Amino acid sequence: MAKRIVGFKPVVTQEMKDVACRVIDSGHYIRTTPTEEAEGKALEEEFGAFLVGPDGRRPRVANVANGTAAMHLAWAAYEVGPGDEVIVPANTFSSVAHCVSLVGATPVFVDVEPDIYNMDSRSVAAAITPRTRAIMPVHTAGHPADLDPLLELARRHNLLLIEDACQSIGARYKGRPVGTLGQMGCYSFVQNKAMTCGGEGGAVGSFDEAKVRRVFTLANHARGERFHAGNKAPDPAYQVIHDGVGFNYRQSEILSAIARVQLRLLPEWIRARKKYAALYKEMLKDADLPVQVPAERPWADHSYVRFEVVTPHRATLRPYLDAQGIRTNIHYPTPLHLDEPYRTQPGMKEGSLPVAERLAREVLSLPIYPQMTEDDVAYVVDHVKAFFKKKALTTA
Ligand SMILES: Cc1ncc(COP(=O)(O)O)c(C=O)c1O
Repeated sequence: MAKRIVGFKPVVTQEMKDVACRVIDSGHYIRTTPTEEAEGKALEEEFGAFLVGPDGRRPRVANVANGTAAMHLAWAAYEVGPGDEVIVPANTFSSVAHCVSLVGATPVFVDVEPDIYNMDSRSVAAAITPRTRAIMPVHTAGHPADLDPLLELARRHNLLLIEDACQSIGARYKGRPVGTLGQMGCYSFVQNKAMTCGGEGGAVGSFDEAKVRRVFTLANHARGERFHAGNKAPDPAYQVIHDGVGFNYRQSEILSAIARVQLRLLPEWIRARKKYAALYKEMLKDADLPVQVPAERPWADHSYVRFEVVTPHRATLRPYLDAQGIRTNIHYPTPLHLDEPYRTQPGMKEGSLPVAERLAREVLSLPIYPQMTEDDVAYVVDHVKAFFKKKALTTA
């Protein structure tokens, strides 16, 4: 009988259900001050510990509603705004560009490296103008962007470098956790990421404690120290003062409690993902198929949140696999510079960023998740091989 292999599957354990119920029963769902005892506060400590690098430094973390909120808050905290340009890769999730636009700045799209799908530093160097304020490398699918040349450009041109590590929690660049090399890292716990928390979740991390505090304040209606002190006063009239204008980008306590359990299990899941990625590569290696498997540069520790192959035969391979019960995904069929909000930007047209455009047509994510089995991987590979064999016979 044909198998059914999904694209990804969040892990749910009894402990996750128990902690969620505990918080539901407590009636305390919202964390309103940065210092109160809360699931979100504990998650910040534990996620900070997870991000400790080889030098032992531990970033400060603010737990926020999702990865998009993390990026929006990061730009707001660094006061990036109208007149500023932010360099972003073209083949990524829409909110990377949208958050730049939402603070009134302009996203400037650049091309990517064909083997690791990440921002190409040569394309970045060519895109820098006197208005450039920041670079946002995205660590795609679990493989880090090549940060050293980007950090060097940022240093030379006095730019912020804020990492989008939403897809790469657990990945490392030259031994250091992604998200900890620039000024700030943004993380997502949305359900198809390395860890989740029952839907939406996110965080920022940075060694700049004041900026992390600012992110938390902005996420909590701009309620800073004056607000909290005023709120405790016997008569708060005119004492409750906001530190500017803010958002409500808080994470629910129920979700933060689930995220804490997920974080504890995460290293084991990443090990499983790596094992299946290695198996895919091994099984596809000698098949001589027109399928490029994900590269792993010598300095990269890939967390394989996705196993993205590149093939010019995607349009027919995908429905073939689907008919065999194998669910695959296409994440970014439209590169951002050609998407509706941005395609009229000066200098942007089809052909402007050829690698990103080719990847938009050719990248296919094969199933990878911790609960799959070696048999599942073999089943996928057998059907990929069968597809190309059939194709060769019909075109012979
Ligand atoms: C690269 C990248 N950045 C940002 C985000 C946004 O994260 P969220 O969905 O938690 O808002 C995602 C999520 O899909 C992503 O893949």
